[in-house]
Amino acid sequence: MREVKVRLGTNSYAIHIGSELLMQTGRQLKENEFTDKLVIITNPIVKGLYGDALKQNLIAEGFRITILQVPDGEEQKSLEVAGRLYSELTDFYAERMTPILALGGGVIGDLAGFVAATYLRGVPLIQIPTTLLAQVDSSIGGKVAVNHGQLKNKIGTFYQPRLVISDISTLRTLPTKVLIDGLAEVIKSAVIGDTELFAFLEKNLDEVKSLDEGALEEVVFQSARIKAEIVEKDEKDLGLRSILNYGHTVGHAIESASDFKMEHGEAVAIGMLAAARISNKMGILDKNELIRLKRVIKRAGLPTQMPNLEVEKLIQAMEHDKKVLRGKIRFVLPESIGSVFITDEVSLSLVKEVLVGWDEET
Ligand SMILES: NC(=O)c1ccc[n+]([C@@H]2O[C@H](COP(=O)([O-])OP(=O)(O)OC[C@H]3O[C@@H](n4cnc5c(N)ncnc54)[C@H](O)[C@@H]3O)[C@@H](O)[C@H]2O)c1
Repeated sequence: MREVKVRLGTNSYAIHIGSELLMQTGRQLKENEFTDKLVIITNPIVKGLYGDALKQNLIAEGFRITILQVPDGEEQKSLEVAGRLYSELTDFYAERMTPILALGGGVIGDLAGFVAATYLRGVPLIQIPTTLLAQVDSSIGGKVAVNHGQLKNKIGTFYQPRLVISDISTLRTLPTKVLIDGLAEVIKSAVIGDTELFAFLEKNLDEVKSLDEGALEEVVFQSARIKAEIVEKDEKDLGLRSILNYGHTVGHAIESASDFKMEHGEAVAIGMLAAARISNKMGILDKNELIRLKRVIKRAGLPTQMPNLEVEKLIQAMEHDKKVLRGKIRFVLPESIGSVFITDEVSLSLVKEVLVGWDEET
């Protein structure tokens, strides 16, 4: 098992990464001084795969537990569902020290995290992420939220977990599409913070995709370390943390212009390439680095071609996202693989040039 520490003063915590960790959860909770009852929030898919084994482990360790389920899907991240969970927590007589275990992907992590942050003004939260995206990104850093109608993640807060248990063995059952979606966030981590992780991906992407545990553990560990370092410097997202939005300016626009038919990771992949092309046209990113990025994205199984969407629609979506100020758009741009910067100096005309000229590019 490997460990990443997130150092945030009294809100510090450990991220444990390794195989078959789920079956050590009870012991790990006891080591963190939880001893009595606890609540697992999950969905029927993850419960069917891992809920019963986790339950047996916790009962064997002497915990009293209840499992609360919400249906699968992004639309469950709502105040209405949170409200139902509050009632169920009350029925279980959950108290201030009763931990909530979020067992699932980013949807469960965000929803259960939001409930943990608000129920009784906050109960301990343990993240047990079971998707690649959740292990490398959403379970770390304390952003918890629900959606409000069409507005994604608009009702939320910062609430750090007490412990994150990333059992990479749970990734074995992920649908390929969900695994590939998570790979976009791994590539993002490498481009913003680590040349070596990028080189590792260039060498071992096939092993990662075929779920080789050694390769998976390395990418989850390195990505978690990168995210932890950024969160430690800017817990409340006041500056540096926004580099985690690399690929998201164009990515969000594609998601919204495609009426969310495109997967998040696919949209971010194209967004990462768009930002790299902008940087290259500005004379910053070397062409060879751009080619390396495109190759890794393609080998990951993510798209490199712009979907058939009107450029004007994409620009409108970016304007709506309020990332446009006086004809300029805020971007996170790579200056090289492993290093990015934030700029407000990208002109709309350059963005259009890159989006319109997409097919001619290498
Ligand atoms: N809080 C943050 O910092 C942050 C960061 C990025 C994304 N997010 C949020 O994360 C969410 C997306 O998360 P996601 O991509 O994990 O999606 P998800 O939670 O919907 O999971 C994807 C699918 O995989 C299933 N699944 C989960 N674990 C499985 C397993 N081990 N085996 C088989 N199937 C499994 C789920 O039931 C679901 O059908 C979005 O709501 C997004 O807003 C949050």
